Amino acid sequence: MTREITAIYPSNIALVKYWGKRGDQLPCNASISMTLRKSYTEIKLACTPKKNSEMELEYYFEGKSNDGFRERIIRYVCRQKEFAGLLKNYSLRIDSKNSFPHSTGIASSASAFAAIAAAFLKAEDQVTDSQFNRKASRLARLGSGSACRSFYAPFSLWGKLEGIDNSSDEYAVPIRGIHDNFKSLRDSILIVEEAPKKISSSMGHALMKDHPYAKARYEDANNHCRELLTTLRTGNFESFISITEREALSLHAMMMTAKDYYMLMIPGTIYIINQIFRFRELSKLPVCFTLDAGPNVHLLYPGSAEEEVHYFIKHHLTHGIKSVIYDQAGTGGSIF
Ligand code: PMV
Repeated sequence: MTREITAIYPSNIALVKYWGKRGDQLPCNASISMTLRKSYTEIKLACTPKKNSEMELEYYFEGKSNDGFRERIIRYVCRQKEFAGLLKNYSLRIDSKNSFPHSTGIASSASAFAAIAAAFLKAEDQVTDSQFNRKASRLARLGSGSACRSFYAPFSLWGKLEGIDNSSDEYAVPIRGIHDNFKSLRDSILIVEEAPKKISSSMGHALMKDHPYAKARYEDANNHCRELLTTLRTGNFESFISITEREALSLHAMMMTAKDYYMLMIPGTIYIINQIFRFRELSKLPVCFTLDAGPNVHLLYPGSAEEEVHYFIKHHLTHGIKSVIYDQAGTGGSIF
């Protein structure tokens, strides 16, 4: 009899960025992210018992089998010893779909690997509820580093930070005691380019290996994590804005100062950032931006500022925006 597991896991946007890795997908610095609500991957994993010893694993993305992601998923699943029993005894079919369009600056590999790791772990059936998220987070990390942060909401920390007891390079942990100011945080993703990225994150991470500023960057990011942990608990918007924006620019500065330098920001990105600075100054509202490894801008603001910010987006960001995805801090994933 076929058993079917459904895993729905959200993507996340880093506020303090993971950029540079070592060993088996271990981070060179700690990072903090906000887990999204509406941007998620839904995986259906169908497991049918089989007798033969050959691996049978099919992968369909939005109903089609010829997706480029397929090879990466299969390689990942085969590498995890935790999934060996499942691969040996069952014929497996994965059906995956995203709630958001492709190449929009939403990390689809984060939500996809979170959902896949969770679905396979659940199918293995050996994990108690109290261990589930930690184990799934570690396994998701091995598929895509940032995926390990998608198990906790609204914010999570990944990476060992001295003085922060439960922090680890192996898996992410939830951040407790979040101030009300940040519980309703909105993320409006302003799409200036829909084309897939020219340089993958893996290539970007690799360029940190002999980057002249790597050491300073890792220290800076760890300090930002410590400061942001306090900020998220005290509700200080001023500090939130300064850490978040500095992190975004610092990530792009690493790309622009690598030996094989490159630039992902385009004129639309700079135009929007400048409009955000102007809007913040005039409105005195706590709005700010972050960037992922791409040109699209994530506009962050509390729920209380929604009306004014939506007006700003519609009437003052008139050039170059192709579309907007209105997302916000989420509540986590689900599996059944
Ligand atoms: O998880 P990866 O290998 O796709 O790397 C993610 C890197 C950034 O998205 C730029 C930053 C982050 O912390 O998510």
